[in-house]
Amino acid sequence: MVTITCVRGDITRQHVDAVVNAANSSLLGGGGVDGAIHRAGGPEILNACRDLRAGHYGKGLPTGQAVATTAGRLPARWVIHTVGPRWSNSEDRSALLASCYRESLRVADELGATTVAFPAVSTGIYGWPLDDGARIAVNTVRETETAVREVRFVLFDEAAYAAFAAQQD
Ligand code: AR6
Repeated sequence: MVTITCVRGDITRQHVDAVVNAANSSLLGGGGVDGAIHRAGGPEILNACRDLRAGHYGKGLPTGQAVATTAGRLPARWVIHTVGPRWSNSEDRSALLASCYRESLRVADELGATTVAFPAVSTGIYGWPLDDGARIAVNTVRETETAVREVRFVLFDEAAYAAFAAQQD
């Protein structure tokens, strides 16, 4: 059984096997947690992402999918990049957000990663409402069969922490 924990903090400082990045489809960096991971991890991550773009992911990483690279200088061993959906008022994209968590755990299993830290995918620049994003994140991890032993949700601010902690009550 996977143990789910919620902590307030910076995902780039987590001592886990893999940290998940809320990337965009280009894989070539951005703001938010993506920018923080590339800054802290150094150029090795971007170089690995460029290799992915030159190879299998020529058109970018589709929304809801996940792919791993080195974690460069981060304490973690791998970064698992996933692309969350942008929030839409007119279309239910929850299945794509759930897919980010499920696919990231599948990639973690392939790597042999047993401790994985996730940010609150899509709830920043992509505008997903926090409570709903937290509900989808926690429920999807609970429902996914995986060899991962610990999933740590790493929440950057108090509001995100409160939303995730509420899911565990
Ligand atoms: N550690 C943990 N969480 C963080 C950190 C950090 N160091 N920094 C920010 N967060 P966002 P998205 C939180 O915007 O909504 C990028 O430009 C943040 O407070 O990073 O999926 C990508 O390239 C929020 O709760 O990701 C894409 O273009 C959560 O991480 C786009 O943003 C996610 O916010 C993806 O948007």
